Amino acid sequence: MALYQQTYRAWQEDPEGFWSEAANAIDWFVPPAKTFDPDQGVYGRWFVGGETNTCHNCVDRHVSAGRGDQAAIIHDSPVTGTKRTISYRELLDEVRALSVVLQDLGLRSGDRVIIYMPMIPEACIAMLACARLGLIHSVVFGGFAASELATRIDDCGARLVISASCGIEPGRVVAYKPLLDAAIAQAKVKPDHTIVFQREQLAAELLEGRDLDYASLVDAARKAGRDVPCVSVAATDPLYVLYTSGTTGQPKGVVRDTGGHMVALQWSMEAMYGVKPGEVFWAASDIGWVVGHSYIVYAPLLNGNTTILFEGKPVGTPDAGTFWRVIEEHGVAALFTAPTAFRAIRKEDPKAELIGRYDLSSFRTLFLAGERADPDTIEWARAALKVPVIDHWWQTESGWPMVGNPVGLGQLPVKVGSPSVPLPGYDIRVLDDGGKEVARGTLGNVVVKLPLPPGCLPTLWNAEERFRTAYLKEFPGTYKTADAGYIDEDGYLFIMARTDDIINVAGHRLSTGGMEEAIATHPDIAECAVIGIADPMKGQVPVGFYVLNNGVDRSEEEISAEVVAVVRDRIGPVAAFKNALAVKRLPKTRSGKILRATLQKIADGDEWKMPATIDDPAILDEFEALMRSRRVGNAFREET
Ligand code: COA
Ligand code: AMP
Repeated sequence: MALYQQTYRAWQEDPEGFWSEAANAIDWFVPPAKTFDPDQGVYGRWFVGGETNTCHNCVDRHVSAGRGDQAAIIHDSPVTGTKRTISYRELLDEVRALSVVLQDLGLRSGDRVIIYMPMIPEACIAMLACARLGLIHSVVFGGFAASELATRIDDCGARLVISASCGIEPGRVVAYKPLLDAAIAQAKVKPDHTIVFQREQLAAELLEGRDLDYASLVDAARKAGRDVPCVSVAATDPLYVLYTSGTTGQPKGVVRDTGGHMVALQWSMEAMYGVKPGEVFWAASDIGWVVGHSYIVYAPLLNGNTTILFEGKPVGTPDAGTFWRVIEEHGVAALFTAPTAFRAIRKEDPKAELIGRYDLSSFRTLFLAGERADPDTIEWARAALKVPVIDHWWQTESGWPMVGNPVGLGQLPVKVGSPSVPLPGYDIRVLDDGGKEVARGTLGNVVVKLPLPPGCLPTLWNAEERFRTAYLKEFPGTYKTADAGYIDEDGYLFIMARTDDIINVAGHRLSTGGMEEAIATHPDIAECAVIGIADPMKGQVPVGFYVLNNGVDRSEEEISAEVVAVVRDRIGPVAAFKNALAVKRLPKTRSGKILRATLQKIADGDEWKMPATIDDPAILDEFEALMRSRRVGNAFREET
């Protein structure tokens, strides 16, 4: 029997024994009394009674074990033209110094800290310093607008925000401080302080009393030479809260616990990704997303790898050969990114000519996730790179892969279009809308049988009822992933679409409901609908349709520009919302539900049926004519 089957069966036969053994790879200050307690939390809790610390396991223990001189983080920043290597020993010094600062500000275990930073080492140092003190961090992606930041400050009740003066996007410097100031002004919760890391590209003005300078505080702390030991925290205590899009504008605060998270991530590094301690691992994502949390910061450091922190884009910084340059220069063994990055590279360099200029002999495997990996992209990458291309499927909520092709357990045959098979911990089922399991090959709701394995969210921050209703209620005894898919005869899962109104834009998860809420604030707009339509590079992009209030007689051009601006202003540039169209009315069911899914199918050129409950079928013809005349959607973009 292949090692994967053996391992999966070992987990099925004795889940607690399986995870208890995996937990041996982690240092515990107090060993868990119970591997799993079904009576705690919403569906049970892992490693109850255990105490440990994530920073200790990511940093201190490696220095003690002789890894001090190994590079822990390599910051490679083509947007600033700089590179910096930080060894495990230096990382420990940096984290300790910032921990002293945080402690001196009076922060204590359980307090919340928002981290709003670009892709610089100080962002990782801030995450680890929080972990060291038992502070709960919440990283907010730099591409979000001030009001998204304000929502998160309020929801988690942040006492401190750690930020930087600016981020750098190709061709423009993004000033963070005005966004931070606007967010604090909007938020009901006022953090006691902000700590601002000043970058040389743009200095921020600091507000006396509230804003503190990162470098001078850390310098002073370093000179004082004080140590801050790692605080012993319960395995079930939160390490972080990461907000992700839900179906409304109010994001969901995914809680990650301390013990289960480390056990799962550490296990995944060798089993799923097949990397050994000491090797170089690169997740080309952003620390603001779950991929960045898990596979830029925590998992590679737990496993004693060198992690690459890349501040750039796959194209344009300076060209489509950047990824290959980084792989060659730093000896990267495995790269993890979103398929959209490869679509961008392919567009610039369709014949993959730039690859030939680099020595990629260290490179073994490419991992893709974050959105559906289209077969074309997979085939192109495989042919160009001549390494296995491994799709795998997971979510912010799971924190680590649910379904994958575990190369560390002996790679299984790849089926292009499928992320492969469930990993230990995940009993994946496909159900019809009534909750009955469907036959193999039949499309349905993808769910995971409870309990979820270590590392997955135990609840939502301050929103246990929302956790139950959003994920556990519809299909009792399971966790609803909100993805639709099917399992084939060989047990391979195929993910086809979301079952809610979440869209995936360049690997970024966004709520169309949130965009509609932003558009609805425009005083001239009566109602609106946002849908995600297929895009050859970004996977999906949003398009908005709006109906004006009676009596508004300004031009569509003017109002559409304002609608685009309001989404950028309220959600952020990351929404990539560039297209808004005025319509006379929206297609609805007789009970008033907007037929977004049907509109999306029309735009994408997919087969669609006239919904039986539609109020007025003629509206769909109006939409089709509009999309055709404006060349909106795959179905009409290429028409002449
Ligand atoms: N701070 C401020 N603005 C940001 C930002 C940040 N951290 N990240 C993105 N933005 C802005 C961009 O500048 C862009 O603004 P614009 O509308 O003024 O051009 C907008 O948000 C959209 O950004 P992005 O999605 O990155 O699109 P892009 O066209 O700049 O680049 C790709 C497209 C495919 C190259 C890019 O999305 C990419 O590299 N994706 C890799 C996949 C990835 O990181 N996935 C994350 C999950 S694994
Ligand atoms: P996020 O929480 O941002 O990681 O987004 C999770 C969602 O992205 C999933 O629910 C899927 O809809 C989608 N997704 C992630 N990985 C894949 C994949 N490998 N194949 C298809 N869809 C994916």
